Amino acid sequence: MKSIVIRQPNELVIEEREIPTPGEGEVRVKVKLAGICGSDSHIYRGHNPFAKYPRVIGHEFFGLIDAVGEGVSKQRIGERVSVDPVISCGHCYPCSVGKPNVCTSLVVLGVHRDGGFSEYAVVPARNAWHIPDSIEDKHAVMVEPFTIAANVTGQAKPTAQDVALIYGAGPMGLVTIQALKGVYNVSQVIVTDRIPERLAMAERSGADMTINNGERSLQEALEEKGIKPTLIIDAACHPSILQEAVNLASPAGRIVLMGFSTEPSQVAQQGITGKELTVYSTRLNANKFPVVIGWLEKGLIDPDKLITHVMDYHLVGEAIEVFEKDQKRCCKVLLTFAE
Ligand code: NAI
Ligand code: MN
Ligand code: ZN
Repeated sequence: MKSIVIRQPNELVIEEREIPTPGEGEVRVKVKLAGICGSDSHIYRGHNPFAKYPRVIGHEFFGLIDAVGEGVSKQRIGERVSVDPVISCGHCYPCSVGKPNVCTSLVVLGVHRDGGFSEYAVVPARNAWHIPDSIEDKHAVMVEPFTIAANVTGQAKPTAQDVALIYGAGPMGLVTIQALKGVYNVSQVIVTDRIPERLAMAERSGADMTINNGERSLQEALEEKGIKPTLIIDAACHPSILQEAVNLASPAGRIVLMGFSTEPSQVAQQGITGKELTVYSTRLNANKFPVVIGWLEKGLIDPDKLITHVMDYHLVGEAIEVFEKDQKRCCKVLLTFAE
């Protein structure tokens, strides 16, 4: 089989490897579609501190189960599945409180262990989630990015009363808009970014208002309209955003952080306590695959609004380049694997 391997930073090869055999409790997935995410590019460029090389990247993938290991029902062969990349131990403290995404021995497919940019991938059977026939392949491969939004909303518990402000209209901002509008009926979702094309995508994903904070002050734009956001989500992830979010938030508001910057954010405590703000963080997803599959079945979200490119996996090098360089036109790039 062919696998897309990052041998070391900046060295991507399509390698011939032996088709793996599923072990106990595992299934083998014949991959049909996979999505490119920022973290794939970070591993490729050597910017992910968790990655070990060589590594088969890819943590967003969909396919068919074509073999099962011991202890897994043979009836699962032929099943359409999307794979949750989060592998957890099930018994540590975070696992016991429902946060397998921060398991003390967390393994993420495509990061710590070989992932889905491959003709076949062996994964734990319980990570392979059944996709009902009513959900098309192109939507099934988008479950993982939407689980990030499901994790955000699982923390912040939006209500229709909320006025939400989202920083960043990249893939993560867009999935969050769709969850807030489509699933939680949040009355007003405002999105800020510096790239007009991305703000246009935010509108297509359901944003009620967009503000280009490269052109004008966000604070002024909000004050002009008397808006005090009750829920702020940082999907742009610059360390300076936290203090601004604290300033902009309504008393009793919530802020959700998604970034992994190692630079400190300067923030005055009084800004937080004076309004009794709640600051949440979110990482990957905690058992959110069934949640998002439910959203798709009910038609509450539309992954098509994010998919801008579909390319053959042989073109992965070009695909990652388009993804990295063309933020104006490119959002989600899918790779197709041969039948
Ligand atoms: P992206 O880079 O495609 O999008 C970020 C967007 O933010 C860009 O459109 C950019 O123009 C905009 N932006 C940058 N600085 C800004 C500012 N000061 N104000 C307003 N807009 C600004 O990235 P993507 O894939 O959407 O991911 C966003 C962030 O989320 C990344 O930092 C990524 O590391 C993080 N992330 C976190 C996850 C988690 O589980 N916590 C999961 C996936 C991504
Ligand atoms: Mn992803
Ligand atoms: Zn654990």
